[in-house]
Amino acid sequence: FTVDASISSGHRIPSTLFGLFFEEINHAGTGGLWAELVQNRGFEAGGLNTPSDIRPWVAVGTETQVLLGTDRSSPFVKNPVALRVAILCDAEDSSSSNQCPHRGVGVSNPGFWGMDIREGATYTVKFWLRSTASLSLSVSFTSADGSQTLAQETVEVDSKTCHTWLNQSLELKATASDHYARLSLTSRNRSVFWLDQVSAMPTDTFKGHGFRKELALMLADLKPGFFRFPGGCFVEGDRLINSFRWRETVGPYEERPGHYGDVWNYWTDDGFGFFEGLQLAEDLGALPIWVFNNGISHQESVPTELIGAYVLDTLDGIEFARGPLNSTWGALRSQMGHPDPFDLRYLAIGNEDCWKPYYRGNYMKFYEAIKAKYPDMQLISNCDGSKSALDHPADLYDYHVYTSANNLFAMRHQFDDTSRYGPKVFVSEYAVTGNDAGRGSFLAGLAEAGFLIGIELNSDVVSLASYAPLFVNNNDRRWNPDAIVFDSWQHYGTPGYWMQQFFKHSNNASLLFSTVQADAATNNVLIMSALRAKNDSTGSDYLVIKAVNYGGTALNLQLVITNMPSSDKIQALDSSMTVLTSGNLMDENSFFQPTKVVPTVSKAETAGPNMRLTLPAFSIMALQLGLS
Ligand code: AHR
Repeated sequence: FTVDASISSGHRIPSTLFGLFFEEINHAGTGGLWAELVQNRGFEAGGLNTPSDIRPWVAVGTETQVLLGTDRSSPFVKNPVALRVAILCDAEDSSSSNQCPHRGVGVSNPGFWGMDIREGATYTVKFWLRSTASLSLSVSFTSADGSQTLAQETVEVDSKTCHTWLNQSLELKATASDHYARLSLTSRNRSVFWLDQVSAMPTDTFKGHGFRKELALMLADLKPGFFRFPGGCFVEGDRLINSFRWRETVGPYEERPGHYGDVWNYWTDDGFGFFEGLQLAEDLGALPIWVFNNGISHQESVPTELIGAYVLDTLDGIEFARGPLNSTWGALRSQMGHPDPFDLRYLAIGNEDCWKPYYRGNYMKFYEAIKAKYPDMQLISNCDGSKSALDHPADLYDYHVYTSANNLFAMRHQFDDTSRYGPKVFVSEYAVTGNDAGRGSFLAGLAEAGFLIGIELNSDVVSLASYAPLFVNNNDRRWNPDAIVFDSWQHYGTPGYWMQQFFKHSNNASLLFSTVQADAATNNVLIMSALRAKNDSTGSDYLVIKAVNYGGTALNLQLVITNMPSSDKIQALDSSMTVLTSGNLMDENSFFQPTKVVPTVSKAETAGPNMRLTLPAFSIMALQLGLS
């Protein structure tokens, strides 16, 4: 393997090349990355019918002690449903045979398959409360079976103010732990009260912006160049009425109606809305890529002559993201805590809609209106231009691939012959799926890494690439495999996550010209690349040589680095070798063995411009050579 180390030999890799695609699928955000612990916080998920289904809320107490039902008395116009709680027992009434139990009765929420409450941690609990008389309400986190109190505070409402809706906000500090805890609101006095918009969040979230910290850190650790959101099919909806509408997901949480995602089949309160997606991109140091609905769902398409309202809606969305403070939507962004514009430069016009009725007509309406107002905006078409030219203008086009391991590895050459003169490629969804992948096999990660080296070598035409899907809550698997698996309290990366770690040096690095000299059999299973990157904290440069050996035999390689600038010397002490391999191609990580398939790092003491390397059978390798 020969590497030409002179920077002019290759090209600069786009700073966006490797990034993230976040979709609200598998409870990735709701009950996942978004740290809200309460599920169905506004009691809206069951619809407006009275009484509506309030699941997963349940009564605390028997039917003779407590009566739950919804009505439309909420103070929030967009969220009309509130929960009416009638406490039928009374602790003080000695004449009554229906005395409230010591723990009180009322209502509780189990969160998303349990709330992770940790001793010593604090949680902010907020809700709206109205009652017919003075009230003493206990707010507590209890163990899953309700037998142990983990944290508790009491809200007292006096008879003067009780009749109006009161905004309550409490800090609860946990004195014990349970990964599957629940939130309870209970009383011991005969009373009638209403609850609405009940929220519980850990106070410690990623950058203080509401994201579950350990999950967000997994993303940050990949050093993503972009953050595509919020879907996927989630953006389209099966029916348009259930598609993601950005306008309904901004502003105070209490005024977000939430919606039923009818492709992945669950309700979301939209706490993780348009603003939060933009904020997370910024917090990750990534450029946001907003995928918006272009009037097309899985079942319906808005005819082009009626698409005008959608176009205006999108222009408003752009104004929300980057408009000035004196604009309507820029002002709302500022009120939400972000006066500066977000760095929104990329927009995807729909998702997987190229072949659907009205796509091209609708696309052109969006394209012309957006370019007229925001000429710098990079617009992404859903149509594949990798084999033949697009019949419409675009800055980039979406390319999605889910296939077997052998197919994806073979696709490492997919973009070798793509025209360098047209729009750039955005491989916005790729993964090995099906039998080769299981729930995230090593084989899948191996093939994906080979595909990504091919993308790196073609990064003069491929500008962005992201794995999909990113997250799965283990309690709601809608799609396999996924990069990061979690439940209420634990998480791990699949091999599809760990292979992405091999590419975190690539964005903005210089790709170096390199050649593999090998026989046909070896060429069939081997792909390699070389780049020069800068360590931002030390300021020094390093080389990264990557390889995927997709074959069952170890390969011995001679690495020759030529044209090394005279000022550079390889520092063996500052060099390392990272390898991802596994005993069995179908090996997976799990909650029981979260690190069964993870990269191992060793020193590369023999590092030099001319060295021998052994690539284990079926392995991903990165040799990092420090320079001084
Ligand atoms: O990543 C899962 C789904 O795959 C996405 O929602 C969609 O864009 C694709 O079909």
